[in-house]
Amino acid sequence: MTVVTATAPGKVILFGEHAVVYGQPALAVPVNQVQALATVTPGQGDFWIEARDLGRRYRLGDAPAGDPLAKAADLVRERAGLDRLPDAVLAVSATIPIASGLGSGAAVVTAAVRALAQSIGLILAPAEVSALVFETEKLLHGTPSGIDNTVVAFEQPVYFVKGQPPEPFRVASPFHLLIADTGRPSPTKLAVGDVRAAHEREPDRYGQLFDAMGAIAREARRLIESGQPEALGPLMGRNHALLQTIGVSSAELDRLVGAACQAGALGAKLSGGGRGGNMLALVTPQAAATVRQALVGEGAVRVIHTVVGQARC
Ligand code: PMV
Repeated sequence: MTVVTATAPGKVILFGEHAVVYGQPALAVPVNQVQALATVTPGQGDFWIEARDLGRRYRLGDAPAGDPLAKAADLVRERAGLDRLPDAVLAVSATIPIASGLGSGAAVVTAAVRALAQSIGLILAPAEVSALVFETEKLLHGTPSGIDNTVVAFEQPVYFVKGQPPEPFRVASPFHLLIADTGRPSPTKLAVGDVRAAHEREPDRYGQLFDAMGAIAREARRLIESGQPEALGPLMGRNHALLQTIGVSSAELDRLVGAACQAGALGAKLSGGGRGGNMLALVTPQAAATVRQALVGEGAVRVIHTVVGQARC
């Protein structure tokens, strides 16, 4: 066995976060500017897991209960029909900020599953990788919709409805996004739990809000597939307002959204679980530098410029 490495990208949700947990469609795209990396190195007298960014190293057998990487290793082992994994170190690291809506958990586990599978000669299709990672997402998020593992494992823009096969969609005309980090980590599980409690208290009202978000996601897909991405701006504003109404925005997110729009973005919204984490601004290439400056001026700790639909070589 030689050293094996694998990577996985981050992701952003363009439209439909939270509503997707209740059966509405959502759109998400991979973000290749941030990546998770996993390495499997043979030897070392047992199977070890090393989470480098967290400064943790432990034997698979000593993993804390509910550890996503240990779960992933066990699932790969079972899928390969092995009683035990060969002695090795599975090391993971990422440039994706944790708990910020960029899919760090799904990406780290996806890279780990890919590296581990490859190290034992197991070939897994993207749908299988996604299904394995989904099992570990449940440990992190409680009741995940499955959108993070899907977009990260397929590495394509996807139109996602919970429980249905993902539909990769075509980006007819590339568009530019700035992804700005509030610098405030926010565990998705908490926001999802609060929304669930509110939905249980007011099912009709929340049902209508989720329906409205679903309609926006469907319309956004149509615009992206028909080459009219600049028309997404107003939809982003409407989706952000709905996310504010369900209580998952924050003062920082609202300030960044406002700053982006004032500086010439075509639209802006929070992305992912909310309460902190990242927001998105749709920009023309000409306005990108000005909007980036405005976001940094308003406190963004990092701004990623990504082009959705750009061919990768
Ligand atoms: O992992 P995040 O923060 O991008 O959020 C996931 C999106 C939610 O819709 C809030 C939850 C889910 O499981 O779909």
